[in-house]
Amino acid sequence: MRLAVLSDTHGNATAFEAVIHDLHSQSPDAVVFLGDIVMRGPQPSECIHMVRSLKPLAVIRGNYDDMFTKFPEPGWVPSNYKQELVLRAYEYDCERTAKEDQIWLSNLPVELSCEFEEVPTEMYHAGPNSLVNVVYPWAPLDELDSLNKYEHTKLVLYGHVHHAFARQGRGRLHVNCGSIGLFDGDNRASYAIVDFNKSDIAVQLRRVTYDLESALEIARERNMPDIAAFEYAHRTARYPYNALKQLT
Ligand SMILES: [Fe+2]
Repeated sequence: MRLAVLSDTHGNATAFEAVIHDLHSQSPDAVVFLGDIVMRGPQPSECIHMVRSLKPLAVIRGNYDDMFTKFPEPGWVPSNYKQELVLRAYEYDCERTAKEDQIWLSNLPVELSCEFEEVPTEMYHAGPNSLVNVVYPWAPLDELDSLNKYEHTKLVLYGHVHHAFARQGRGRLHVNCGSIGLFDGDNRASYAIVDFNKSDIAVQLRRVTYDLESALEIARERNMPDIAAFEYAHRTARYPYNALKQLT
């Protein structure tokens, strides 16, 4: 069985289209999506519809999906630059997503456990019991061990940290499919293909280039707020918040 693992489009439908094109060449039997469909990119609604059109076996809720459907509390005022960006992204996405899609996002599950062939698997956005916990590829084994709930699990799939990797932990394999719409260190989109043969697991971490200029053009046409942050993040493949503060 061949499983495609996708995550973190963050409203970047141009990158998502390129990934779906590559995905067709891989002919997966099933697709799972691990969260953060919306926020911080120009096309949140398109990304929601593209995820749904793939008829995924599971769609897990990400921290940005969660924030988008609950945020902000009445009277909430941003207290720093990052929160100002988040508020503007929230307002932009609210105007461009249908109520029905917002309700769909708010009902996504936060985890799924199932078996692929003979491989017990757990899936999360960031990890069990948290949508925001950060476990990087270079984390100590004790931190990797925090990513599963059940001792018999042989595979953990997650997203959130925008770093694609596969690493054997104590008793199970951990696979992060990386990010389609936002990047860290490599400005190509990433996703994972996992092949199961009974209890054997083989992983491909795939990288896909896409037309950034076209994504920027869409962002400009739609007057997306904070385009400089979006452009900086994609041109440099870096986290934009600290660097951009000085430019604004
Ligand atoms: Fe994300």
